[in-house]
Amino acid sequence: MYLSIQNILAMVFLIFLSQVKSNHFSPGELWLDDKGMHINAHGGGFLIQGDTYYWFGEHKIEGKEGNKAQVGVSVYSSKDLYNWKNEGIALEVHDDPNSLLVKGCIIERPKVIYNKNTKKYVMWFHHEIKDRGYDAAMTGLATSDHVTGPYTYIKSVNPHAGLWPSNYPDSLKSKPVDLEKYKRPSQEWKDAVVDGVFLRRDFEKGQMARDMTLYVDDDGKAYHFHSSENNQTLHVAELTEDYLDFSGNYTRVLHGEQNEAPAIFKKDGKYYMFSSGLTGWKPNPGKSAVADHPMGPWTSLGNMCVGTEEEMNTTFWSQSTYVLPVIGKKDAFIFMADRWNPDNPIDGRYIWLPVEFDNSTPVLRWYDQWDLSFFDNK
Ligand code: GAL
Repeated sequence: MYLSIQNILAMVFLIFLSQVKSNHFSPGELWLDDKGMHINAHGGGFLIQGDTYYWFGEHKIEGKEGNKAQVGVSVYSSKDLYNWKNEGIALEVHDDPNSLLVKGCIIERPKVIYNKNTKKYVMWFHHEIKDRGYDAAMTGLATSDHVTGPYTYIKSVNPHAGLWPSNYPDSLKSKPVDLEKYKRPSQEWKDAVVDGVFLRRDFEKGQMARDMTLYVDDDGKAYHFHSSENNQTLHVAELTEDYLDFSGNYTRVLHGEQNEAPAIFKKDGKYYMFSSGLTGWKPNPGKSAVADHPMGPWTSLGNMCVGTEEEMNTTFWSQSTYVLPVIGKKDAFIFMADRWNPDNPIDGRYIWLPVEFDNSTPVLRWYDQWDLSFFDNK
């Protein structure tokens, strides 16, 4: 291979940069790992094990094909949140065309939780079947005995076939699925959505599960939050004790409010959710909500972003993916989001901002640069 002097200098510069330890966050900038490469873990999910953070995310490649899974789910580790070690591919896509996890399928927003009883690492993710766009709306499951993998793919499902949400009134269960009757958008259409017309449509075959997150409560119970009902309504589902399945107990929350990209955290006994609206890769105003229990009811708190009109209308040009509590610091939470680049997904950027509280309501403000000492004076 011929390398020009410019290429060699660029490589030397990258190696030099990768040796320089970082001690702050610079939202939206390139973020190099220990090998000098921009971190490739989009739609990320985080897991704390002891004194180490693990960052799982969508591995993307250059060009539009990079929006599909060509490699799998990456994993990185860090002790300080600034400097990340590339731990490789946690879940690899298959070459076998008969596997649902075949190269070219879509894997998004992978989240990993650890089950203390079974000692298994459990990954759930949004999974779409190859060449079927976003039609399948499934959630996939993979497990491993080791945090960094390799993870073994188990299955993908449309959850809750033949099961009603616990908060769905009997009076609505026999209403017709008369989707063709409504002009979209119209008030009638919105009412039908809130009443669960899509829920009833999917009752037999199982519900849609697109943008998702996992939340493990202090009592060890795990919840799977996902955009369902054509992305119109969130479902919050309890997982079984081993986290490998849905228990069957689930609720519909924020009915008809089009929430995507949910991220959950808990402070002073209250559960908070950051989420986004529904505009694909384009950013939109942030949303927040509060509840006394993960399964709801959830009360909307409005846009959590404080800043210019543009910042508020675009969530600082990003879409939420996770809220991470910082090890050893009280009430210290980091909002984590993606600044997508669908034309060249590998160049998607990460927006991390400290969560601040105005009278116990969580808010976000932009900082060009910040570090964990931000939380020390709170
Ligand atoms: C977004 C969603 C992403 C991805 C994208 C595809 O709304 O949050 O995870 O699915 O749509 O257009």
